[in-house]
This record gives sequence, structure tokens and C-alpha cells, in this order.
Amino acid sequence: MDVTPTARHATFRSLWTELEPVGRDLRSGGYARFAWTRAETELREWFTAAAQERGLEVETDRNGNLWAWWGSPGPDAVVTGSHLDSVPSGGAYDGPLGVVSAFLALDELRRRGVGGASGGASGGGRPPRPFAIACFVEEEGARFGIACLGSRLMTGALDADAARRLTDADGVTLAEAVAGGGLEAARLGRDEETLRRIGIFVELHVEQGRALVDLGAPVGVGTSIWPHGRYRFDFAGLADHAGTTRMEDRHDPMLTYAMTALAANKQARLAGAAGGGARATFGRVEVAPNGTNAIPSHVTAWLDARCSTEAGLAALVGAIEKQAAERADRDGTTLAVTAESVSPAVAFPPELAARIAGSHSGGDWPLLPTQAGHDAGILSAAGVPSAMLFVRNPTGVSHSPEEYAEDADCIAGAVALADTLERLLVGSGS
Ligand code: GLV
Ligand code: MN
Ligand code: MN
Repeated sequence: MDVTPTARHATFRSLWTELEPVGRDLRSGGYARFAWTRAETELREWFTAAAQERGLEVETDRNGNLWAWWGSPGPDAVVTGSHLDSVPSGGAYDGPLGVVSAFLALDELRRRGVGGASGGASGGGRPPRPFAIACFVEEEGARFGIACLGSRLMTGALDADAARRLTDADGVTLAEAVAGGGLEAARLGRDEETLRRIGIFVELHVEQGRALVDLGAPVGVGTSIWPHGRYRFDFAGLADHAGTTRMEDRHDPMLTYAMTALAANKQARLAGAAGGGARATFGRVEVAPNGTNAIPSHVTAWLDARCSTEAGLAALVGAIEKQAAERADRDGTTLAVTAESVSPAVAFPPELAARIAGSHSGGDWPLLPTQAGHDAGILSAAGVPSAMLFVRNPTGVSHSPEEYAEDADCIAGAVALADTLERLLVGSGS
């Protein structure tokens, strides 16, 4: 495949244009690309077509993750990729940029003659070390609530029985959804065979903040991921009439929730001011019965909490829970808190990050920590040497239709990924 700068851009545009309409909500401009839905099936078909066009063999593993192999699968493979699903009303770049960049990087490797490739459109050649492009399923956890579901299942970080019982907003279980996608639900779970094949994983991602803008660099290398978790807060009270119930007679869980949302914001600010940084967000809430003229009986809200240290995260969630419980006492409501997923701190191997970042024609790429979770973090926690590349995002906005990266930076990212993969494929191991 011709990978001159103009051709590279044309290939990027063509892959991007194919993806653009899939799962798009024309009103908000955002994406609804949820695991095991029609939009996601279309994305899987797109992945398979892009891989086959390059002569790769595509496999779906037991947990629904996709693998496109150049040459024979594993062992000790260099793997790159990301995810194609989105948050509700998500941006175009979070996930897809890593997958599109993986295909562009493969084209670039072949152009450079890695693996003795012919340079033709369908590739050919053999990589000097096994090589795959991966696409992980349900990274955002937008449908079944657990982020990085595919990689957590693959590594055994999530119990398969618990996963099978997860339900979506319509009460469909994960077991039912994967069966609809052609997988055997009984085979979900830790996948030794696939894990044995992975030697090293590199994920390219749009940056979800403004560090690269401030540094004036198109590309950066990840050093670490903050510990973070999702916690379900179930507030219960007493449904009653909005007009006839005196204010002093109410047991309104909405009040307890409202105060808890304020407390979360305050506690995260206090924790952040004390050093290191902290975040707390209630971004999803369900109210029952959800009637304008009824005091609710239940409010369920999900706290997303993140902190620079694990102790800080535990203290932050504890402080929010304590304030919520005190308020529940005053409101005559009850509160139950369930940690649905908690991810420990991840430190990517520093020598690997330094090796990736070092000595490029434009100088070293900056090293950055991130507050966002990624499949690379799950793999790293499972002992797979992993690394991340970030591509500059001019606004820093993410998980929103406003998420953006300039084409030139996307191409720079894909070339940076190719540089990285070339070092790993032809260099001295991880
Ligand atoms: C992943 O996108 C996250 O929520 O950190
Ligand atoms: Mn995301
Ligand atoms: Mn992502």
C-alpha cells in the first residue's frame, strides 16, 4: 500500500469516513455505539473488512474481542488496537482513533519493508514477531455498566458468572446479548489461550485533556492511570403525592441524592486541594417511579470517582458515603452503596515508556499520566507489558460530541505508533 504523506491522509480519511455514520445520533452529533447492538455489529464488520483488505486473519475470542493477525497468531505477539464502542452521545475519537491508527501503522510498517512485505494493498510478508490488531468489546461499559468488560473478562479481572448476570437498561442480560452476537455465554471468562499470545500491548488514544496542547506536542506517551471506580448508590424513600404530602412528612430520596451529588463535588475539591488530585462525578441517575407529581420511592445514581492514589480514592469515596448516610438519616431514607468496579493504580513499565518516547526526529515525546481508564490498564494490571500513546486534542474535551483531533495530529499519531511497533517488532523484545 502506498503510504506517502498524501496517501496516508487519504487512507485515514477513507477509514474515518466509513466509520463516521455508524451509530451517529444526528440530533446531538454524538455516537451510540453500544456492545452487541446493531451499530456495534456494523463496526465489527467494518473492522473485519479493513483487516481482510490487508490480508489479516480475523478471530473473535471467547469474550467477543476481535483479533486481526498478520501471519500466525502468537505467542509473544506485539499487539496494538483499542475499542470501537462509545459512551452515550460519545465522541468520534475515543477508541476508534486507536483502531484506525493501528491499520495505518500496519500500512506504514509494510511500506518500510518490515516483514519483507510487498507493499501491495493486501500486504503480505511475515512480521518478524507475531503481530495483531485488537478491538476490545464494551470498553466504556455503557451498556452493561462495567468499563473494559472485554479485557476484564479475558484477564479474569471480572468473574464470569457475575458478568453473565449483568443487565442492560432493558433487562437484557450479558449472557443473552452475547448469545445474540453468536458467542457461547458459557465460555465467557479468563482466556488463557489468547493471553498467552500477547507479548506486549500498545494502545493509541485521543488525549482526554489538554496536556499536549499546553506542551505544544502532537503525541505523548502514557506513564500511569489513576485508580478509579464506579459505585452504585441506591437511595430508598417513600413514594407519595407531590401536592398533598406536607413538606415535613416526606421521605424523599431525591433530596438525599441531591445533597450527595453536591457532597461528591465538594469532597473531590477538598481532596484535590490537599494534593495529587481527585475527581467525583454523578453522571447517571435513575428515578422511580419518575413522575412529575410523585415523590420518588427510589433514586439510583452512579458515582465515578478517581484519585491519584488508592488510599486517596478509598478516603474520597468513604467521605462521600459518610455525608450521604448522615443526610439519609435526616431525610428518613436509606442508602446502600455497591462498588461495581474498582481499578487499582496502573504504572506502565517506565523503561518501555522511555524507550517509546525517546529519540525521535522531532525530539522526545512527552510523558503523561492519565485519569481515564483503558484496556491497556487492564492488561497491564494482568502482567502484560503495556504502553499508551496519546494524540493531541485541541479542546481537551472527551466523552462528548465535541471531542476532536486534527487530521495532521492523527497522522502524526499513526506514524508514532508505527515507529513504536517497528522498534518492538525488530528490536530486542519488550
Ligand atoms: C474511560 O473512558 C473512562 O471512563 O475512563
Ligand atoms: Mn472513554
Ligand atoms: Mn477509550
